[in-house]
Amino acid sequence: MEKFQVIQHPLIQHKLSILRRTDTSTKAFRELVNEIAMLMGYEVLRDLPLEDVEIETPITKTVQKQLAGKKLAIVPILRAGIGMVDGLLSLVPAAKVGHIGMYRDEETLQPVEYLVKLPEDIKHRQIFVVDPMLATGGSAILAIDSLKKRGASNIKFVCLVAAPEGVAALQKAHPDIDIFTAALDEKLNENGYIVPGLGDAGDRLFGTK
Ligand code: PRP
Ligand code: URA
Repeated sequence: MEKFQVIQHPLIQHKLSILRRTDTSTKAFRELVNEIAMLMGYEVLRDLPLEDVEIETPITKTVQKQLAGKKLAIVPILRAGIGMVDGLLSLVPAAKVGHIGMYRDEETLQPVEYLVKLPEDIKHRQIFVVDPMLATGGSAILAIDSLKKRGASNIKFVCLVAAPEGVAALQKAHPDIDIFTAALDEKLNENGYIVPGLGDAGDRLFGTK
């Protein structure tokens, strides 16, 4: 599988266009973020391991496949990452959820970590770090640093909109990580916002602006 993937299903592209629009309501924004995360899950979870299981159909006994029950963790970067959690949980309801709180200092654009709360056995889990926006890459890099410091090694990063600058920075800092996005946008503007982007994901998701 490619280390960097833009997941370009027509349903995802359609929903993402609505998400980007200024006139999309907070309610619709929230629903769309979850729906897109769920649709992306089909690709993001593609390499989940399977095992053989013997079952009985009305016709005969047969050996078929089931998920091998690998331990998963979804780790949203607060706040906006929270918007993607339910969509993925609808596919893997038994996954544990950890939280990493981080905000970007508006002057320096540097991420500041303010909370880390993870499942105890995080180092044994396949981790999906989720955040709708990969802009400079600072938040994703620091979140993954934080996870690796705690022994995690099996990590994928899932976002909705990425800037080329953020993808390059994340690949450089963590070349072992698979990155999935629904769109690779044009660039960052002088304030560190993705162009065309969708604005401030946290504010749009929670209606704080
Ligand atoms: C946004 C977004 C990412 C980060 C991306 O969060 O959700 O976490 O910016 O930017 P970066 O790639 O340049 O680090 P923000 O700091 O606005 O916090 P919020 O989700 O609490 O609003
Ligand atoms: N964070 C956001 O929420 N939006 C951007 O465009 C960049 C960082």
